[in-house]
Amino acid sequence: MALLIKNIRQLLQVRDEGMGPIRGKDLAMLPGIENAYVLTANGIIEDYGPMRDCPANPGPVIDATGKLVLPAWCDSHTHLVFAQTREEEFVDRIKGLSYEEIAAKGGGILSSAKKLSATSEEDLYHGAMARLNGIMRLGTGAVEIKSGYGLSVEAELKMLRVIKRLKVDHPLTIRATFLGAHAIPTEYKDNHEGYIQQITEEMLPVIAEEDLADHIDVFCETGYYTPDETTRILRAGLRHGLKPKIHVNQFTSIGGIRVGIENNAVSMDHLEVMTADDLARLAQSTVIPTVLPSCSFFLGIPYAPARQMIENDLPLCLATDYNPGSTPSGNMPFVLSLGCIKMKLLPEEAINAATLNGAFAMGLQQELGSVTRGKKANLIITGPIDGIARIPYSFGSNLIETVVINGRVMK
Ligand code: NIG
Ligand code: FE
Repeated sequence: MALLIKNIRQLLQVRDEGMGPIRGKDLAMLPGIENAYVLTANGIIEDYGPMRDCPANPGPVIDATGKLVLPAWCDSHTHLVFAQTREEEFVDRIKGLSYEEIAAKGGGILSSAKKLSATSEEDLYHGAMARLNGIMRLGTGAVEIKSGYGLSVEAELKMLRVIKRLKVDHPLTIRATFLGAHAIPTEYKDNHEGYIQQITEEMLPVIAEEDLADHIDVFCETGYYTPDETTRILRAGLRHGLKPKIHVNQFTSIGGIRVGIENNAVSMDHLEVMTADDLARLAQSTVIPTVLPSCSFFLGIPYAPARQMIENDLPLCLATDYNPGSTPSGNMPFVLSLGCIKMKLLPEEAINAATLNGAFAMGLQQELGSVTRGKKANLIITGPIDGIARIPYSFGSNLIETVVINGRVMK
């Protein structure tokens, strides 16, 4: 069924097909068409242009007078399958404990893993479904979801099977990432090798066999996985067809940047704590640096030096990190606001980072992230506003009136 959106004040992020990620100075440019229409058919963007060329449509028509239309957000980093929230840690942090101190006393990822192992696949599925519906209302059209709260063969596979079911049942486009190396299970505290062997010899073969993941991720950090361990796990993932995306430099700089580059990571995520050497290496690479400002906001840790990354001509990407510990929110408009307010991104830079570059960070650039003929019709229609800066400016408000996924208006 065709859907026509007409009288659009500005149709934004209009791009030719086949372009690369948006880097450096180009991030400040957001190409668009004033007084435009967009026509979708069978879930795909069929055509667009100025209103003088607008065709008649026998099917549904949305009049977007005074409104803006842009591609739905591509949130390339989340952990939104989880069993329970962790507000007790939130209160502990208010009282002065740090994320690392809470993890050291048994909270953090290990406490989520304990809760997840006791939760049924069915309950995990329904919880994640509700979160997906929540982020869709805020304009997200594609999302990556990681495992990593299982930390045992059985529970990691359970998480990944939930994600696989969500891919089929939910209208959002979903990418799955295997993050078995998210923490060291308590029983393997003094035997990292034992757990790494489980990852490489027991989990990965089943994941490949059942096609349960697109990417592999490792939390390369002090107290979690060393750069050498990270390399071995990423390489094992690559042998099973999973492209690397890694958590690096969230709290400390221990050599993870080099590991990500050497293993052709698609993206390196977090990057809150960057040395001059880290930045220089990153600048020489083709990796997509993905920054997560709502994680910095929630934990009170530094914001990643996004402006420096842009000055180094890098293809900056913005994502939420939606998870129960460090970022209990999948709100992309808020991420855009923080990107502008705390990282000094221009609204155009933030939108490029949250759409086309997010699609690249998930390997979805052929099908999502821009208004391009032949891409999926995943679109946001705002309320009546003058221009794009109003979205990050209005932090905490939802200015998105309508979300179209696969050419259908979502209720
Ligand atoms: O990206 N840093 C590692 N993983 C998550 C937090 C996980 C948790 O605290 O549950 C993150 O911030
Ligand atoms: Fe994360």
